[in-house]
Amino acid sequence: MKPLKNDTLLRALKRQLTEYTPVWAMRQAGRYLPEYRAVRAKAGSFMALATNPELACEVTIQPLRRFDLDAVIIFSDILTIPDAMGQGLFFAAGEGPKFKKIIQTPADIEALPVPDPMDDLRYVMDAIALTAKTLAGAVPLLGFAGSPWTLATYMIEGGSSKNFARSKAFLLNQPAAAHQLLDKLAQATVAYLAAQIDSGADAVQVFDSWGGVLSPAMYREFSLPYLQQIVTGLRQAGYAETPVILFSKGVHGSVLGDMAASGAHALGVDWTTDMNEARQLTADKVALQGNLDPCVLYADDAVIRREVQQVLNAYGEGPGHVFNLGHGMHPDMAPEKLGVMVDAVHELSRK
Ligand code: CP3
Repeated sequence: MKPLKNDTLLRALKRQLTEYTPVWAMRQAGRYLPEYRAVRAKAGSFMALATNPELACEVTIQPLRRFDLDAVIIFSDILTIPDAMGQGLFFAAGEGPKFKKIIQTPADIEALPVPDPMDDLRYVMDAIALTAKTLAGAVPLLGFAGSPWTLATYMIEGGSSKNFARSKAFLLNQPAAAHQLLDKLAQATVAYLAAQIDSGADAVQVFDSWGGVLSPAMYREFSLPYLQQIVTGLRQAGYAETPVILFSKGVHGSVLGDMAASGAHALGVDWTTDMNEARQLTADKVALQGNLDPCVLYADDAVIRREVQQVLNAYGEGPGHVFNLGHGMHPDMAPEKLGVMVDAVHELSRK
């Protein structure tokens, strides 16, 4: 692999000193960019785009042409694993992701195969390999996966959900089957992330987008152990040097301290916890990523700069900060605003 020209992100994830705070944005490849919408229209559907390595590489790199980002994230989706398990992912117009098959019984879980990533998810590995080659070490390439709990919600609900009624009822009424499902998903995710690293990903993020909808007790029973299983599994498989970022959106307080003890290199933090509090709770054991409220990007440039400064101040002195939004870009955001944020982070954090 070529040495990276800009390894600022990787150093920050390992809590080493950097000249400035590195920055990227969740959902930086996506619908807020007109050039993304053009490629998406040409591909015809989200899955046609995601399964075409040339087009996936193109939309992964698009934001880097506009903004001085310190990383790119491979264009794909967290729902590729349930799709590879035979659930049949599709996107109904204006309705978000849906599955043809829904998990309802222990027998449904028993029947789920653990996919072979190099075979069943070959298109993701091809997209990563092509993107790594095209980047030629300009910035690190991030791979990613969904957390077992977050994937389970989509598999049990059959799509997105407002209150997670079915998936929470499943955890409460069929806990043994739920644990079996979560364990299978964790196994699949270790193999998937290992294959992404082998294909050229420099660091990986696990999106536990729905960790925060569980009570702390339920989170500790049904989400955290499987994040732990992924971190430990990657270490045991020889990937201890590749940074892992765990992002459980919406979790608070002592849960962050538990996550910091998982052995992950870094934790994502959303905007509902102050960075200084997150730092206290995690006792400088891990790097922290975040946490500007994405809606700040609807504000005037001067307000964006002020809010960026606020996040930098809240993190405070010392290494281990990766700047990001507290969640993804929204489709209706003006692209230039991300540029204002990125430039402000670099300028205001440079010593
Ligand atoms: O730039 C990037 O962040 C890389 C690409 C990426 C996508 N999805 C592309 C995408 C990443 C990292 C994801 C992760 C993902 N997918 C998550 C976790 C992150 C989060 O936001 O919490 C989740 C929950 C999903 C599931 C998913 N995929 C949903 C709910 C949707 C519909 C979103 C909507 O608003 O309609 C998708 C589709 C999707 N994945 C799109 C993109 C750019 C939009 C669909 C399109 O272009 O047709």
